Amino acid sequence: MLPRSNAALAARDLAVVWHPCTQMHDHETQPMLPIVEAQGVWLTDADGKRYVDAVSSWWTNVLGHRHPCIVAALKDQLDRLDHVMLAGFTHEPALELAEELVRVAPPGLARVFYADNGSSAIEVALKMSFHYWLNLGRAGKTRFIALTGSYHGETLGALSVTDVPLYSATYAPLLTKPILAPSPDAYEGAPGETPAGTAARRLGELRALLERHAHETCAVIVEPLVQCAAGMRMYDASYLAGLRRLCDEFDVHFIADEIAVGFGRTGTLFACEQARVTPDFLCLSKGLTGGTLALSAVLTTNAVYDAFYAEYRAGKAFLHSHSFTGNPLACRAALATLQVFRDEPVLANNRALAAHLAQRLAPLRDHPNVADVRQTGMIAAVELVRDRATREPFPAHERRGLACYRYALDEGVVLRPLGNVVYIMPPYAITTDEIDLVVDTAMAGIALAVR
Ligand SMILES: Cc1ncc(COP(=O)(O)O)c(C=O)c1O
Repeated sequence: MLPRSNAALAARDLAVVWHPCTQMHDHETQPMLPIVEAQGVWLTDADGKRYVDAVSSWWTNVLGHRHPCIVAALKDQLDRLDHVMLAGFTHEPALELAEELVRVAPPGLARVFYADNGSSAIEVALKMSFHYWLNLGRAGKTRFIALTGSYHGETLGALSVTDVPLYSATYAPLLTKPILAPSPDAYEGAPGETPAGTAARRLGELRALLERHAHETCAVIVEPLVQCAAGMRMYDASYLAGLRRLCDEFDVHFIADEIAVGFGRTGTLFACEQARVTPDFLCLSKGLTGGTLALSAVLTTNAVYDAFYAEYRAGKAFLHSHSFTGNPLACRAALATLQVFRDEPVLANNRALAAHLAQRLAPLRDHPNVADVRQTGMIAAVELVRDRATREPFPAHERRGLACYRYALDEGVVLRPLGNVVYIMPPYAITTDEIDLVVDTAMAGIALAVR
Protein backbone atom coordinates (compact mmCIF):
# COMPACT_ATOMS: atom_id res chain seq x y z
CA MET A 1 0.00 0.00 0.00
CA LEU A 2 1.18 3.54 -0.75
CA PRO A 3 2.13 5.53 2.35
CA ARG A 4 -0.64 7.79 3.70
CA SER A 5 1.23 10.57 5.46
CA ASN A 6 0.90 14.31 4.86
CA ALA A 7 4.24 14.37 3.08
CA ALA A 8 3.51 11.39 0.84
CA LEU A 9 0.04 12.57 -0.21
CA ALA A 10 1.19 16.17 -0.72
CA ALA A 11 4.03 15.04 -2.99
CA ARG A 12 1.67 12.95 -5.14
CA ASP A 13 -0.85 15.80 -5.23
CA LEU A 14 1.64 18.44 -6.31
CA ALA A 15 2.73 16.22 -9.19
CA VAL A 16 -0.74 16.14 -10.79
CA VAL A 17 -3.38 18.42 -9.23
CA TRP A 18 -3.84 22.09 -10.15
CA HIS A 19 -5.65 23.71 -7.23
CA PRO A 20 -8.35 26.41 -7.33
CA CYS A 21 -7.66 29.98 -6.28
CA THR A 22 -3.98 29.16 -5.77
CA GLN A 23 -0.62 30.33 -7.09
CA MET A 24 0.84 26.82 -7.14
CA HIS A 25 4.33 28.28 -6.62
CA ASP A 26 3.28 29.15 -3.04
CA HIS A 27 3.41 25.44 -2.29
CA GLU A 28 7.19 25.49 -2.58
CA THR A 29 7.08 26.96 0.94
CA GLN A 30 3.50 26.35 2.07
CA PRO A 31 2.73 22.67 2.75
CA MET A 32 -0.27 21.20 0.94
CA LEU A 33 -2.56 19.74 3.59
CA PRO A 34 -4.12 16.35 2.85
CA ILE A 35 -7.38 15.94 4.78
CA VAL A 36 -8.52 12.37 5.32
CA GLU A 37 -11.49 12.74 7.65
CA ALA A 38 -14.04 15.29 8.82
CA GLN A 39 -16.52 15.28 11.69
CA GLY A 40 -18.53 18.22 13.02
CA VAL A 41 -16.27 21.27 12.89
CA TRP A 42 -13.09 19.18 12.80
CA LEU A 43 -10.89 18.20 9.87
CA THR A 44 -8.14 15.59 10.34
CA ASP A 45 -5.02 15.45 8.21
CA ALA A 46 -3.10 12.35 7.13
CA ASP A 47 -0.69 12.69 10.08
CA GLY A 48 -3.63 12.71 12.49
CA LYS A 49 -3.53 16.42 13.33
CA ARG A 50 -6.93 18.08 13.79
CA TYR A 51 -8.11 21.53 12.66
CA VAL A 52 -11.27 23.53 13.36
CA ASP A 53 -12.86 24.36 10.00
CA ALA A 54 -13.54 27.99 10.97
CA VAL A 55 -14.43 28.98 7.40
CA SER A 56 -16.86 26.10 6.78
CA SER A 57 -14.88 24.81 3.78
CA TRP A 58 -15.47 27.88 1.59
CA TRP A 59 -18.74 28.70 3.39
CA THR A 60 -20.46 25.51 2.27
CA ASN A 61 -20.76 23.58 5.48
CA VAL A 62 -23.57 24.85 7.66
CA LEU A 63 -24.45 22.04 10.08
CA GLY A 64 -21.04 20.44 10.62
CA HIS A 65 -19.27 17.81 8.55
CA ARG A 66 -20.94 14.42 8.13
CA HIS A 67 -24.11 15.38 9.95
CA PRO A 68 -25.73 12.01 10.78
CA CYS A 69 -29.06 12.91 9.10
CA ILE A 70 -27.35 13.83 5.85
CA VAL A 71 -25.09 10.75 5.93
CA ALA A 72 -28.08 8.46 6.51
CA ALA A 73 -30.13 10.10 3.75
CA LEU A 74 -27.28 9.78 1.27
CA LYS A 75 -26.62 6.12 2.06
CA ASP A 76 -30.31 5.37 1.62
CA GLN A 77 -30.52 7.30 -1.65
CA LEU A 78 -27.41 5.61 -3.05
CA ASP A 79 -29.09 2.24 -2.61
CA ARG A 80 -31.97 3.34 -4.82
CA LEU A 81 -31.13 5.93 -7.46
CA ASP A 82 -27.78 7.54 -8.19
CA HIS A 83 -28.56 9.85 -11.08
CA VAL A 84 -30.94 10.39 -13.92
CA MET A 85 -31.18 13.36 -16.25
CA LEU A 86 -33.85 15.86 -15.31
CA ALA A 87 -35.13 16.57 -18.84
CA GLY A 88 -38.16 14.38 -19.52
CA PHE A 89 -37.62 12.58 -16.19
CA THR A 90 -38.15 13.45 -12.58
CA HIS A 91 -37.54 11.84 -9.21
CA GLU A 92 -38.82 12.25 -5.68
CA PRO A 93 -35.74 14.03 -4.28
CA ALA A 94 -35.96 16.79 -6.93
CA LEU A 95 -39.69 17.33 -6.65
CA GLU A 96 -39.79 17.06 -2.85
CA LEU A 97 -36.90 19.51 -2.54
CA ALA A 98 -38.65 21.95 -4.88
CA GLU A 99 -41.82 21.67 -2.78
CA GLU A 100 -39.84 22.22 0.39
CA LEU A 101 -37.82 25.19 -0.97
CA VAL A 102 -40.99 26.90 -2.15
CA ARG A 103 -42.46 26.34 1.32
CA VAL A 104 -39.55 27.91 3.23
CA ALA A 105 -38.52 30.64 0.77
CA PRO A 106 -39.91 34.18 0.83
CA PRO A 107 -43.56 34.18 -0.32
CA GLY A 108 -44.21 34.37 -4.05
CA LEU A 109 -41.29 32.20 -5.18
CA ALA A 110 -43.08 29.28 -6.78
CA ARG A 111 -40.73 27.63 -9.28
CA VAL A 112 -37.37 25.92 -8.82
CA PHE A 113 -34.77 25.55 -11.58
CA TYR A 114 -31.81 23.38 -10.58
CA ALA A 115 -28.15 23.65 -11.57
CA ASP A 116 -25.06 22.16 -9.97
CA ASN A 117 -22.92 24.94 -8.47
CA GLY A 118 -23.19 28.56 -7.41
CA SER A 119 -21.78 30.15 -10.55
CA SER A 120 -24.14 28.11 -12.71
CA ALA A 121 -27.08 29.33 -10.64
CA ILE A 122 -26.00 32.90 -11.39
CA GLU A 123 -25.74 32.08 -15.10
CA VAL A 124 -29.28 30.70 -14.95
CA ALA A 125 -30.66 33.79 -13.19
CA LEU A 126 -28.94 36.22 -15.58
CA LYS A 127 -30.02 34.33 -18.69
CA MET A 128 -33.55 33.78 -17.40
CA SER A 129 -33.98 37.46 -16.58
CA PHE A 130 -32.70 38.55 -20.00
CA HIS A 131 -34.83 35.91 -21.73
CA TYR A 132 -37.93 36.92 -19.77
CA TRP A 133 -37.73 40.46 -21.11
CA LEU A 134 -36.99 39.12 -24.61
CA ASN A 135 -40.07 36.91 -24.47
CA LEU A 136 -42.07 39.99 -23.51
CA GLY A 137 -40.77 41.79 -26.59
CA ARG A 138 -38.30 43.99 -24.71
CA ALA A 139 -35.11 43.00 -26.54
CA GLY A 140 -33.40 46.25 -25.53
CA LYS A 141 -32.92 45.01 -22.00
CA THR A 142 -29.48 43.45 -22.16
CA ARG A 143 -27.53 44.82 -19.18
CA PHE A 144 -27.21 44.15 -15.46
CA ILE A 145 -26.60 46.37 -12.49
CA ALA A 146 -24.23 44.96 -9.85
CA LEU A 147 -22.84 46.52 -6.69
CA THR A 148 -19.26 47.64 -6.31
CA GLY A 149 -17.39 44.89 -4.46
CA SER A 150 -19.85 42.26 -5.67
CA TYR A 151 -18.83 38.63 -6.17
CA HIS A 152 -21.13 36.21 -7.97
CA GLY A 153 -18.80 33.45 -9.15
CA GLU A 154 -16.15 32.87 -11.79
CA THR A 155 -17.74 31.54 -14.94
CA LEU A 156 -17.73 34.32 -17.54
CA GLY A 157 -21.33 35.44 -16.99
CA ALA A 158 -21.01 35.43 -13.21
CA LEU A 159 -17.62 37.13 -13.45
CA SER A 160 -19.21 39.84 -15.60
CA VAL A 161 -21.30 40.94 -12.61
CA THR A 162 -18.39 40.51 -10.19
CA ASP A 163 -16.42 43.55 -9.05
CA VAL A 164 -13.47 42.02 -7.26
CA PRO A 165 -10.54 42.87 -9.58
CA LEU A 166 -8.41 40.05 -8.17
CA TYR A 167 -10.72 37.62 -9.97
CA SER A 168 -12.17 39.67 -12.82
CA ALA A 169 -9.48 42.12 -14.05
CA THR A 170 -7.43 39.57 -16.03
CA TYR A 171 -10.47 38.41 -17.96
CA ALA A 172 -11.92 41.87 -18.63
CA PRO A 173 -11.60 41.47 -22.44
CA LEU A 174 -13.88 38.43 -22.24
CA LEU A 175 -16.54 39.94 -20.00
CA THR A 176 -19.65 42.01 -20.60
CA LYS A 177 -19.62 45.29 -18.70
CA PRO A 178 -22.06 45.66 -15.82
CA ILE A 179 -23.44 48.97 -14.63
CA LEU A 180 -21.91 49.35 -11.18
CA ALA A 181 -23.95 50.87 -8.38
CA PRO A 182 -22.09 51.98 -5.23
CA SER A 183 -22.33 49.34 -2.53
CA PRO A 184 -24.25 50.23 0.66
CA ASP A 185 -21.26 48.70 2.54
CA ALA A 186 -21.39 50.29 6.01
CA TYR A 187 -17.57 50.28 6.33
CA GLU A 188 -17.42 52.72 3.42
CA GLY A 189 -20.09 54.94 4.97
CA ALA A 190 -19.47 58.67 5.43
CA PRO A 191 -18.07 59.74 8.82
CA GLY A 192 -20.83 59.73 11.43
CA GLU A 193 -23.31 58.08 9.06
CA THR A 194 -25.39 55.15 10.37
CA PRO A 195 -25.60 51.94 8.29
CA ALA A 196 -29.23 52.85 7.53
CA GLY A 197 -28.09 56.31 6.47
CA THR A 198 -25.51 54.80 4.10
CA ALA A 199 -28.17 52.47 2.69
CA ALA A 200 -30.56 55.39 2.07
CA ARG A 201 -27.84 57.43 0.36
CA ARG A 202 -26.82 54.49 -1.83
CA LEU A 203 -30.47 53.89 -2.78
CA GLY A 204 -30.58 57.48 -4.02
CA GLU A 205 -27.57 56.77 -6.22
CA LEU A 206 -29.16 53.56 -7.48
CA ARG A 207 -32.31 55.49 -8.34
CA ALA A 208 -30.25 57.90 -10.43
CA LEU A 209 -28.68 54.95 -12.30
CA LEU A 210 -32.06 53.37 -12.92
CA GLU A 211 -33.45 56.65 -14.23
CA ARG A 212 -30.72 56.55 -16.88
CA HIS A 213 -30.45 52.83 -17.54
CA ALA A 214 -33.69 51.01 -16.63
CA HIS A 215 -34.75 50.81 -20.29
CA GLU A 216 -31.64 48.68 -21.04
CA THR A 217 -31.41 46.86 -17.69
CA CYS A 218 -32.65 43.32 -17.06
CA ALA A 219 -31.94 43.08 -13.35
CA VAL A 220 -30.09 44.35 -10.32
CA ILE A 221 -28.07 41.56 -8.71
CA VAL A 222 -26.93 41.73 -5.07
CA GLU A 223 -25.55 39.57 -2.28
CA PRO A 224 -28.10 40.29 0.48
CA LEU A 225 -26.64 41.78 3.71
CA VAL A 226 -23.04 40.54 3.34
CA GLN A 227 -20.67 40.89 0.37
CA CYS A 228 -18.57 37.94 1.38
CA ALA A 229 -15.70 37.75 -1.11
CA ALA A 230 -15.20 41.54 -0.94
CA GLY A 231 -14.08 41.02 2.67
CA MET A 232 -17.32 40.27 4.52
CA ARG A 233 -18.58 43.81 3.91
CA MET A 234 -21.97 44.23 5.58
CA TYR A 235 -24.91 46.53 5.01
CA ASP A 236 -28.26 47.51 6.42
CA ALA A 237 -31.35 45.46 5.53
CA SER A 238 -33.25 48.63 4.59
CA TYR A 239 -31.22 48.66 1.34
CA LEU A 240 -32.94 45.45 0.25
CA ALA A 241 -36.40 46.85 0.99
CA GLY A 242 -35.57 50.01 -0.98
CA LEU A 243 -34.10 47.90 -3.80
CA ARG A 244 -37.34 45.93 -4.08
CA ARG A 245 -39.34 49.17 -4.37
CA LEU A 246 -36.97 50.59 -7.00
CA CYS A 247 -37.01 47.40 -9.06
CA ASP A 248 -40.82 47.48 -9.08
CA GLU A 249 -40.91 51.15 -9.96
CA PHE A 250 -38.42 50.84 -12.82
CA ASP A 251 -39.50 47.45 -14.16
CA VAL A 252 -36.25 45.57 -13.60
CA HIS A 253 -35.71 42.26 -11.83
CA PHE A 254 -34.17 41.83 -8.40
CA ILE A 255 -31.73 38.88 -8.26
CA ALA A 256 -30.75 37.85 -4.72
CA ASP A 257 -27.56 35.81 -4.64
CA GLU A 258 -27.87 33.96 -1.32
CA ILE A 259 -25.31 31.35 -2.33
CA ALA A 260 -23.07 32.30 0.60
CA VAL A 261 -25.55 33.91 3.00
CA GLY A 262 -28.50 31.49 2.74
CA PHE A 263 -29.35 28.71 5.20
CA GLY A 264 -29.10 30.58 8.46
CA ARG A 265 -25.77 32.37 8.03
CA THR A 266 -27.13 35.83 8.72
CA GLY A 267 -29.51 34.86 11.53
CA THR A 268 -32.58 34.03 9.43
CA LEU A 269 -32.97 31.10 7.05
CA PHE A 270 -32.62 33.54 4.13
CA ALA A 271 -31.08 37.00 4.42
CA CYS A 272 -33.94 38.58 2.39
CA GLU A 273 -36.31 37.75 5.26
CA GLN A 274 -34.68 40.51 7.32
CA ALA A 275 -36.03 43.08 4.88
CA ARG A 276 -39.29 41.15 4.33
CA VAL A 277 -38.71 41.15 0.59
CA THR A 278 -39.19 38.57 -2.13
CA PRO A 279 -36.67 38.83 -4.97
CA ASP A 280 -37.62 37.82 -8.52
CA PHE A 281 -34.78 35.28 -8.46
CA LEU A 282 -33.26 33.65 -5.39
CA CYS A 283 -29.96 31.82 -6.06
CA LEU A 284 -28.99 29.10 -3.60
CA SER A 285 -26.04 26.68 -3.37
CA LYS A 286 -23.25 25.94 -0.84
CA GLY A 287 -25.28 25.35 2.37
CA LEU A 288 -28.18 23.99 0.33
CA THR A 289 -26.81 20.44 0.71
CA GLY A 290 -25.32 21.17 4.12
CA GLY A 291 -22.08 21.55 2.19
CA THR A 292 -21.96 17.87 1.24
CA LEU A 293 -22.53 17.81 -2.51
CA ALA A 294 -22.61 20.24 -5.41
CA LEU A 295 -26.10 21.52 -6.11
CA SER A 296 -27.73 24.86 -6.78
CA ALA A 297 -31.23 26.12 -7.26
CA VAL A 298 -32.75 29.27 -8.70
CA LEU A 299 -36.18 30.04 -7.31
CA THR A 300 -38.43 32.37 -9.26
CA THR A 301 -42.03 33.51 -9.58
CA ASN A 302 -44.89 32.20 -11.65
CA ALA A 303 -44.83 35.52 -13.51
CA VAL A 304 -41.37 34.66 -14.82
CA TYR A 305 -42.28 31.02 -15.48
CA ASP A 306 -45.39 32.01 -17.41
CA ALA A 307 -43.38 34.19 -19.81
CA PHE A 308 -41.61 31.04 -21.06
CA TYR A 309 -44.70 28.81 -21.22
CA ALA A 310 -45.90 28.50 -24.82
CA GLU A 311 -46.16 26.10 -27.75
CA TYR A 312 -42.68 24.80 -28.63
CA ARG A 313 -42.70 26.56 -32.00
CA ALA A 314 -43.01 29.94 -30.25
CA GLY A 315 -39.31 29.49 -29.33
CA LYS A 316 -39.76 30.77 -25.79
CA ALA A 317 -38.40 27.78 -23.84
CA PHE A 318 -35.47 28.13 -21.43
CA LEU A 319 -33.13 25.55 -22.95
CA HIS A 320 -30.32 25.90 -20.39
CA SER A 321 -28.98 22.62 -18.97
CA HIS A 322 -26.20 21.02 -16.95
CA SER A 323 -25.66 17.23 -16.92
CA PHE A 324 -25.96 16.93 -13.15
CA THR A 325 -28.94 19.29 -12.78
CA GLY A 326 -30.98 18.16 -9.78
CA ASN A 327 -28.83 15.13 -8.99
CA PRO A 328 -30.86 12.84 -6.67
CA LEU A 329 -28.08 12.39 -4.12
CA ALA A 330 -27.52 16.12 -3.84
CA CYS A 331 -31.26 16.76 -3.57
CA ARG A 332 -31.54 14.18 -0.78
CA ALA A 333 -28.68 15.87 1.07
CA ALA A 334 -30.57 19.16 0.71
CA LEU A 335 -33.81 17.61 1.98
CA ALA A 336 -31.95 16.23 5.00
CA THR A 337 -30.44 19.66 5.63
CA LEU A 338 -33.86 21.31 5.64
CA GLN A 339 -35.15 18.51 7.88
CA VAL A 340 -32.47 19.40 10.44
CA PHE A 341 -33.56 23.06 10.30
CA ARG A 342 -37.12 21.83 11.02
CA ASP A 343 -36.25 19.33 13.77
CA GLU A 344 -33.55 21.21 15.65
CA PRO A 345 -33.51 24.80 16.99
CA VAL A 346 -30.63 25.67 14.66
CA LEU A 347 -31.38 29.38 14.32
CA ALA A 348 -32.00 29.85 18.07
CA ASN A 349 -28.74 28.03 18.91
CA ASN A 350 -26.94 30.22 16.39
CA ARG A 351 -28.15 33.35 18.17
CA ALA A 352 -26.41 32.19 21.35
CA LEU A 353 -23.26 31.16 19.45
CA ALA A 354 -23.19 34.47 17.55
CA ALA A 355 -23.53 36.42 20.81
CA HIS A 356 -20.62 34.48 22.30
CA LEU A 357 -18.51 35.11 19.20
CA ALA A 358 -19.30 38.84 19.35
CA GLN A 359 -18.39 39.05 23.00
CA ARG A 360 -15.08 37.23 22.48
CA LEU A 361 -14.11 39.41 19.49
CA ALA A 362 -15.04 42.70 21.20
CA PRO A 363 -11.54 43.41 22.66
CA LEU A 364 -10.16 43.60 19.10
CA ARG A 365 -12.11 46.84 18.63
CA ASP A 366 -9.36 48.61 20.57
CA HIS A 367 -6.46 47.09 18.63
CA PRO A 368 -4.27 49.74 16.92
CA ASN A 369 -4.34 47.83 13.61
CA VAL A 370 -8.05 47.02 13.59
CA ALA A 371 -10.38 49.48 11.85
CA ASP A 372 -13.57 47.45 12.19
CA VAL A 373 -14.99 44.38 13.88
CA ARG A 374 -18.31 43.54 12.25
CA GLN A 375 -20.75 40.70 12.48
CA THR A 376 -23.99 39.52 10.92
CA GLY A 377 -25.23 36.30 12.51
CA MET A 378 -22.63 33.57 12.07
CA ILE A 379 -20.27 35.73 10.01
CA ALA A 380 -17.73 37.82 11.92
CA ALA A 381 -14.90 39.82 10.36
CA VAL A 382 -11.94 41.89 11.52
CA GLU A 383 -10.56 44.55 9.16
CA LEU A 384 -6.79 44.94 9.59
CA VAL A 385 -5.24 48.30 8.63
CA ARG A 386 -1.84 49.91 8.79
CA ASP A 387 -3.27 53.01 10.42
CA ARG A 388 -6.45 52.89 12.44
CA ALA A 389 -6.97 56.68 12.36
CA THR A 390 -6.80 57.02 8.57
CA ARG A 391 -7.91 53.45 7.81
CA GLU A 392 -4.94 53.16 5.48
CA PRO A 393 -4.88 49.50 4.41
CA PHE A 394 -1.83 47.28 4.44
CA PRO A 395 -0.61 46.92 0.82
CA ALA A 396 -2.02 43.72 -0.67
CA HIS A 397 1.42 42.45 -1.71
CA GLU A 398 2.48 42.27 1.94
CA ARG A 399 0.02 39.37 2.32
CA ARG A 400 -0.59 40.01 6.00
CA GLY A 401 -3.53 37.63 6.01
CA LEU A 402 -1.28 34.81 4.86
CA ALA A 403 0.85 35.13 8.00
CA CYS A 404 -2.32 34.76 10.06
CA TYR A 405 -3.41 31.76 7.97
CA ARG A 406 -0.08 29.97 8.47
CA TYR A 407 0.00 30.65 12.18
CA ALA A 408 -3.58 29.42 12.65
CA LEU A 409 -2.91 26.20 10.74
CA ASP A 410 0.00 25.45 13.05
CA GLU A 411 -2.39 25.98 15.97
CA GLY A 412 -5.05 23.70 14.47
CA VAL A 413 -7.50 26.28 13.12
CA VAL A 414 -8.42 26.88 9.48
CA LEU A 415 -8.73 30.63 8.93
CA ARG A 416 -8.43 31.83 5.36
CA PRO A 417 -8.29 35.63 5.48
CA LEU A 418 -9.56 37.61 2.50
CA GLY A 419 -6.63 39.98 2.02
CA ASN A 420 -6.54 42.09 5.16
CA VAL A 421 -9.82 40.76 6.52
CA VAL A 422 -9.67 37.94 9.03
CA TYR A 423 -13.10 36.34 9.30
CA ILE A 424 -14.79 33.56 11.20
CA MET A 425 -17.68 31.74 9.52
CA PRO A 426 -17.88 28.34 11.21
CA PRO A 427 -20.28 25.40 10.89
CA TYR A 428 -23.16 25.81 13.32
CA ALA A 429 -22.07 22.65 15.18
CA ILE A 430 -19.31 24.69 16.80
CA THR A 431 -19.33 24.89 20.61
CA THR A 432 -18.49 27.95 22.73
CA ASP A 433 -15.20 26.27 23.73
CA GLU A 434 -14.33 25.80 20.08
CA ILE A 435 -15.24 29.44 19.39
CA ASP A 436 -12.83 30.41 22.18
CA LEU A 437 -10.08 28.38 20.52
CA VAL A 438 -10.77 29.99 17.13
CA VAL A 439 -10.90 33.54 18.53
CA ASP A 440 -7.76 33.10 20.67
CA THR A 441 -5.94 31.75 17.62
CA ALA A 442 -7.23 34.56 15.39
CA MET A 443 -6.10 37.16 17.93
CA ALA A 444 -2.60 35.69 18.20
CA GLY A 445 -2.46 35.32 14.40
CA ILE A 446 -3.47 38.96 13.97
CA ALA A 447 -0.81 40.09 16.46
CA LEU A 448 1.76 38.22 14.38
CA ALA A 449 0.41 39.43 11.03
CA VAL A 450 0.47 43.16 11.86
CA ARG A 451 4.01 43.18 13.33
C1 LIG B 1 -22.14 35.13 -3.24
C2 LIG B 1 -21.56 34.06 -4.10
N1 LIG B 1 -22.11 33.84 -5.30
C3 LIG B 1 -21.66 32.87 -6.12
C4 LIG B 1 -20.60 32.07 -5.75
C5 LIG B 1 -20.07 31.02 -6.71
O1 LIG B 1 -20.37 29.75 -6.25
P1 LIG B 1 -19.48 28.51 -6.78
O2 LIG B 1 -18.13 28.67 -6.16
O3 LIG B 1 -20.22 27.30 -6.29
O4 LIG B 1 -19.45 28.60 -8.26
C6 LIG B 1 -19.98 32.28 -4.51
C7 LIG B 1 -18.81 31.48 -4.09
O5 LIG B 1 -18.11 31.77 -3.17
C8 LIG B 1 -20.47 33.31 -3.67
O6 LIG B 1 -19.91 33.58 -2.49
